[in-house]
Amino acid sequence: MTTISAPAVAHGELRGLVTRIVERAGFRDADAREIADALVEADLRGIVSHGVMHVPNLVKRTKLGLVRTTPDMKVLAESASVARIDADRAAGFIAAARAMDTAIAKARATGVGAVAVTNSTHYGMGARYAERAARAGMIGLALANATATMPSPGGARALLGTNPISFAVPGEGDAAAICLDMGLGQVTLNSVRDAAKRGRALPEGVAAANDGTPTTDPAKALDGGFLLPFGGHKGFGLAVLVEVLAGVLTGAGIGRDVGSLFVDYDRAQNTGHFLLALDVSHFCSLEQFRSRRDFLVSWIQASPRAAGAGPALLPGQREYQTRRERIASGIPLPKETAADLAVLAEELGVAVPQSLRDAA
Ligand SMILES: NC(=O)c1ccc[n+]([C@@H]2O[C@H](COP(=O)([O-])OP(=O)(O)OC[C@H]3O[C@@H](n4cnc5c(N)ncnc54)[C@H](O)[C@@H]3O)[C@@H](O)[C@H]2O)c1
Repeated sequence: MTTISAPAVAHGELRGLVTRIVERAGFRDADAREIADALVEADLRGIVSHGVMHVPNLVKRTKLGLVRTTPDMKVLAESASVARIDADRAAGFIAAARAMDTAIAKARATGVGAVAVTNSTHYGMGARYAERAARAGMIGLALANATATMPSPGGARALLGTNPISFAVPGEGDAAAICLDMGLGQVTLNSVRDAAKRGRALPEGVAAANDGTPTTDPAKALDGGFLLPFGGHKGFGLAVLVEVLAGVLTGAGIGRDVGSLFVDYDRAQNTGHFLLALDVSHFCSLEQFRSRRDFLVSWIQASPRAAGAGPALLPGQREYQTRRERIASGIPLPKETAADLAVLAEELGVAVPQSLRDAA
């Protein structure tokens, strides 16, 4: 859990600040805007663990040459519906957005576009890339591998990351009708780091110490210990699936070869992404798809509920609701994040908005 400050910062102000910081770090204008959009969008949806708190580390990694601000991305292999791209240590936010745009163009022509990306870096909230396809009228899937933090069931060695799966289905406006966006750990690595910083215990069953025994102590989980996959062997199985598509197939690192964002500063991350776009109109008419999709949505939403339970939600609905609230009333940034951004902005000669100073 994070400390929430008041007052909140308007999303436009935060986006402007992050864009200017990232530009000063050397990114081209359009790329700086894309990165700022991706990070602020996560905070707007309440996904604080993948929001602007990452800016100082991104700038640090850029200075160390672990993330390149002007990468020379190259197509390594290509056919009508497939491409494999070397991202040249681009910011993952940029590499994955471009790769999904390529997948969308291929799907437009052939019905399916699948793009594998190697030599990339952290891409934050995966929904961003799956939704790019949904906004183009396509079903989108985005996968990434992450540094090894999870053992196999009963294991005592970190084998695979919390490898996020993000899946979006076109809706009527900008928002997807369905947007499943999840890491495969019971909790994210960032929430364990946060609990350690604040001296808070973890919930039961989300982490293990370095000998594989369950622990609620975040320090033990971080000191050679592990995050546990959600759903036991099933979550682990999904992590293997993602590792095959985003690691093995792409040519990127596998398991511990993928550098940790907050631990490994002596080597590039070499994470991989897998982006898939399916153009609905190649499978059936858009009208048929919409009507069948709406049937599924109402089937779920109209379902009977247990006493005291709230309404049935579709994946993504909770985040879209938070987004609407935060567009209206601002983003309640954690105090440390606001303070870190203010310090970084001053170091880089970027003006700090008063609302961020108030939040710090
Ligand atoms: N880049 C990386 O390496 C990496 C790694 C792990 C996670 N992530 C990102 O972290 C973010 C958070 O992941 P998470 O696993 O903590 O997500 P989460 O557990 O908060 O949510 C997972 C999904 O469940 C849905 N959901 C939540 N409550 C629901 C309900 N009551 N009914 C129906 N659906 C519901 C959400 O809308 C979401 O789609 C994601 O954006 C993910 O992409 C990134």
